[in-house]
Amino acid sequence: MERLEAAMAKARAVRDAIPARKPVDDFGRTSNAQQGQSEPIGDWLSLPTFEITPKLGRRKRISAILGTEFSTPYDILRSRVTRQMAENKWTRLAVTSPTTKCGKSTISLNLALSLARNGEIKVILMDFDMRRPALANMLDLRHAPDISGLLRPEARLGDYALRRGSNLAVCANSGPVLRSAELLAGSATTEALDRIESIWKPDIIIFDTPPMQGNDDNLGFFSQIDCALIVAAAGSSTLAQIDRCEQEVANLTNVLGVVLNKCSYFGGMTGHDQSYY
Ligand SMILES: Nc1ncnc2c1ncn2[C@@H]1O[C@H](COP(=O)(O)OP(=O)(O)O)[C@@H](O)[C@H]1O
Ligand SMILES: [Mg+2]
Repeated sequence: MERLEAAMAKARAVRDAIPARKPVDDFGRTSNAQQGQSEPIGDWLSLPTFEITPKLGRRKRISAILGTEFSTPYDILRSRVTRQMAENKWTRLAVTSPTTKCGKSTISLNLALSLARNGEIKVILMDFDMRRPALANMLDLRHAPDISGLLRPEARLGDYALRRGSNLAVCANSGPVLRSAELLAGSATTEALDRIESIWKPDIIIFDTPPMQGNDDNLGFFSQIDCALIVAAAGSSTLAQIDRCEQEVANLTNVLGVVLNKCSYFGGMTGHDQSYY
């Protein structure tokens, strides 16, 4: 608990150090971005903003914005994730699953929103499922950038991220990235993430990643993260798949837990359809 409080105090100090808002261009980018200058300090308030309407929230299962009745499962998950990560001084969390369509993107986005609602911590959500990026579609963004550019040495998060509130930044992705496994395993990714952390000082970065089965993206990438949450889908993920996934992830990083998603018997219509163990 003391560590959590220390993390909160650190987050408040960083937030208080944010300089005044800079002028933005037609695309909401700062004048520094137009001149290709480096990012000396992460100016969160200079990031262009996005909104999530209740209609979009209902359409895309973004329950975390729909009020307590719908956000409760994500708020419980948030508390557990925050406690475990703060206790271990972890900042980088990947969300993965045995196979596709278990709900990784849905849970990544809702968890990020729930964490950010707390107001005390800064959260960055990145769409690192480079084979099937989904966050741009979920957020109804028509002109998301190609996230592979963010991993270049000269890249600046300010040209890739959108902000909601003062403490959530989302890096969506326009479409599939070629040779994503090589890219994610390369030193450019290591350097880019270290640079982003040192400049923007997020308390938590959530990576929406591919499933463990059917590709090798996470095999190289998970050495860059501190822990992973596994999302399984009730009704479609088999126990054998979940077990194998957990073992594979545990060989690569710390397993934070397994979320059993799509549990309709918990009352799917209200969003109370996840269980965590
Ligand atoms: N708890 C849930 N109940 C019912 N459908 C869900 C639930 N969570 C996600 N979905 C739906 O399942 C589909 C796959 O979810 P998504 O988050 O894109 O999975 P993944 O990122 O693992 O491929 C989407 O249509 C999403 O709206
Ligand atoms: Mg997805």
